[in-house]
Amino acid sequence: MENKEIKDNKTSENGDKKKVVLSGIRATGNLHLGNYYGALSKFVRMQDDYDCRYFVADLHALTTHPDPKMLHENVKDILAEYLAAGLDPDKNTIYVQSDVPEISEMYLLMNMHVGIGELMRTASFKDKARKALGIHSEGDEIEKEIIGNQTNQRVNAGLLTYPTLMAVDILIHHADLVPVGKDQEQHLELTRRFARRFNSFYKTPYFSEPFNFNFGGEAVKVPGLDGSGKMGKSEGNCIYLIDDEKTLRKKVMRAVTDEGPKEPDSPVSEPIKNLFTLMELVSEPSTLEHFKNAYADCSIRYGDLKKQLAEDILKTTLPIRERILDIRNNDEYISKVVRQGAEKARETAAKTLADVREIMGIRKFY
Ligand code: TRP
Repeated sequence: MENKEIKDNKTSENGDKKKVVLSGIRATGNLHLGNYYGALSKFVRMQDDYDCRYFVADLHALTTHPDPKMLHENVKDILAEYLAAGLDPDKNTIYVQSDVPEISEMYLLMNMHVGIGELMRTASFKDKARKALGIHSEGDEIEKEIIGNQTNQRVNAGLLTYPTLMAVDILIHHADLVPVGKDQEQHLELTRRFARRFNSFYKTPYFSEPFNFNFGGEAVKVPGLDGSGKMGKSEGNCIYLIDDEKTLRKKVMRAVTDEGPKEPDSPVSEPIKNLFTLMELVSEPSTLEHFKNAYADCSIRYGDLKKQLAEDILKTTLPIRERILDIRNNDEYISKVVRQGAEKARETAAKTLADVREIMGIRKFY
């Protein structure tokens, strides 16, 4: 064949249609190292080989009632962080969820096929509902509490239908792959279930099932600085991409450690394991090796370990921080990026919504 196909970001070198990748991050605050290694750096790695669509989930953020003055700033932060981490707006579709109204309409339609029981059994819902009602136990009395509650504490319906909205985010793009952390696996499972249910109810193989994507490896779990568990905003143990040098060094120097190994080849305690895990992400393998050996022969000084760790984290985060600040100052650039992204996203979204309306029997008279 003589005539060469025009290359776009939807077609790979050999002319095949690229797989569609979709992911989003809720607009609830700045991104930390956990977000960076768990999500953002994967997004960047996928941008050449896949047709990627990355968005800022501002509607999902509403489920936890952010201050209206903060919400827009939070959206802007994540956009700047996406771009600063290396997402190229010409290779990817980068957009804000609320800029694509088709998502909201399809969310309403999809809810007609979603059971409140299955939503109430979702782990993330139970957690958040417990929080909203101030319940500390893990028991199953929560359903009774929700229905019987006569106080003005309530669990909002948006929280319940969070998985419907997420399923629509994914299905409206007919996404094949969804790079997300382990904590989102249950939402993805529901997405597949809703897709199958829609297909079987309307006897049409309209949606295909999306899957998580981890580059064939285990999902990385980035530990926090407080000695246990993973890095998370609500745990208050985060290193943010936007942290300045002084703040970052201070945080790392204050990280929880232990009393140090008393005899050679002692087992490594969790706080120190966590520092090694962080080091594995940011440092040269030989650096990590050096400190592991020093631990094994009891010559380790945690002060040195932390100093080196802070140094190596800064090597990753400082250049990103500089770019975040630049981009945040460039409203014109941000608005150009999201406008272009919204246009591209709406093309697909409008087509899917039109199909779904048609399949469900909604037709116009005029
Ligand atoms: N629920 C996701 C989170 O909290 C964010 C999200 C919303 C998302 N819609 C999505 C992720 C669609 C992937 C695909 O991290």
